[in-house]
Amino acid sequence: MSGKIKCLECGFEAHFLEPHLEKSCIGVRAYVEKYENAELMSSIGKMKLDELRAESIDNARKIFPIRGVFGVDIGKIKEARGYIRPFDQTPKIDPDYVFRKDLLIYVLYALENKNERVLLTGPTGAGKTSVIEQTAARLNLPVTRINADGDMTRGDLVGEWKIKGDSMYFMYGLLPSAMKKGHVFIVDEWDAAPPHVNMVLQAVLEGKPLMITETSEAIYPHDNFRIFATANTVGQGDSTGLYHGTNHQNYATIDRFSLVEYVDYPEKSIELKILSKKLGIADKEAIGKMISVASKIRSSFAKEEIRVTMSTRTLVNIGIKMLDFGDIAMAYKIAYLNKLNQEDKAVVGEIIQRIWGVSC
Ligand SMILES: Nc1ncnc2c1ncn2[C@@H]1O[C@H](COP(=O)(O)OP(=O)(O)O)[C@@H](O)[C@H]1O
Ligand SMILES: [Mg+2]
Repeated sequence: MSGKIKCLECGFEAHFLEPHLEKSCIGVRAYVEKYENAELMSSIGKMKLDELRAESIDNARKIFPIRGVFGVDIGKIKEARGYIRPFDQTPKIDPDYVFRKDLLIYVLYALENKNERVLLTGPTGAGKTSVIEQTAARLNLPVTRINADGDMTRGDLVGEWKIKGDSMYFMYGLLPSAMKKGHVFIVDEWDAAPPHVNMVLQAVLEGKPLMITETSEAIYPHDNFRIFATANTVGQGDSTGLYHGTNHQNYATIDRFSLVEYVDYPEKSIELKILSKKLGIADKEAIGKMISVASKIRSSFAKEEIRVTMSTRTLVNIGIKMLDFGDIAMAYKIAYLNKLNQEDKAVVGEIIQRIWGVSC
């Protein structure tokens, strides 16, 4: 029914018989001697193997120097392993991306050590997802990203039975595929997924195989498989009131992350570089003013004087609108102020007035 083949020795069914034969049956060599011409993999298995081969052909591992590739030194790690060429699933390089030493160090550390599982938490638009993707982009690593939300199911992660004609087949979810192919797996907005679904990740976060109970298979992680998660909270509720839709997570899942870092907005000198690169301008005075407004808003938010903060994402967007419309007040309005309630709008309007001398 499922398109699997049967072990002629014991009747066990699988797409690949070799692991079964070696681990719990008579061994591959004895099997092929005993059952000449017997198949060792199903047609689906052959297809999967061809896909994997096609991906690894022509792509060899390559050592990249950290300073040369990322433009910064990060202490002990001097080199990182990647591939000569990008895969189809390698994120596109953002040429204007500015690598932050404080984040790059953890991403590279986890890429170099297969037993590390990283959770990056922090406010929206601070650079959590992009640092993982851009690091992978520079090293030509293949990435699978799943955007978690309240409707994410176990089937999305692990896979589910599908009907085709009058037979059924198991369509693998994103996780087992990434584990088999050795991808960098990003669970984006991890805290938005229901806690019982995230519990599927527990074994994987320990470096153990993923048990697919539906097919009685154990998926062993490829040596290059890595798992990262990003989230606005640490899975213990949102104290800011900004991140509706995040869920309390099971602490046993949280406990399995081996490296957790809080990602705040970049320090001023880095944000200055990001803005000049992304906007393609060198007007230090204007960029300095934009950053001053952002840092005043962030400190007002920290003091609980206003309910929202300002992300690097928004800062870049305000800059783009300033360039496109040539009007500072309008740029602030359409890219930021119109998202705020009346009280916050008034406070932020004053900050902008003080720094830019314009009223919004
Ligand atoms: N270091 C950086 N260099 C360049 N742009 C950045 C950097 N950090 C953040 N950004 C900008 O901010 C946006 C949001 O970053 P992202 O990583 O998606 O945030 P998060 O995952 O924390 O919500 C990016 O698309 C990019 O425009
Ligand atoms: Mg993100």
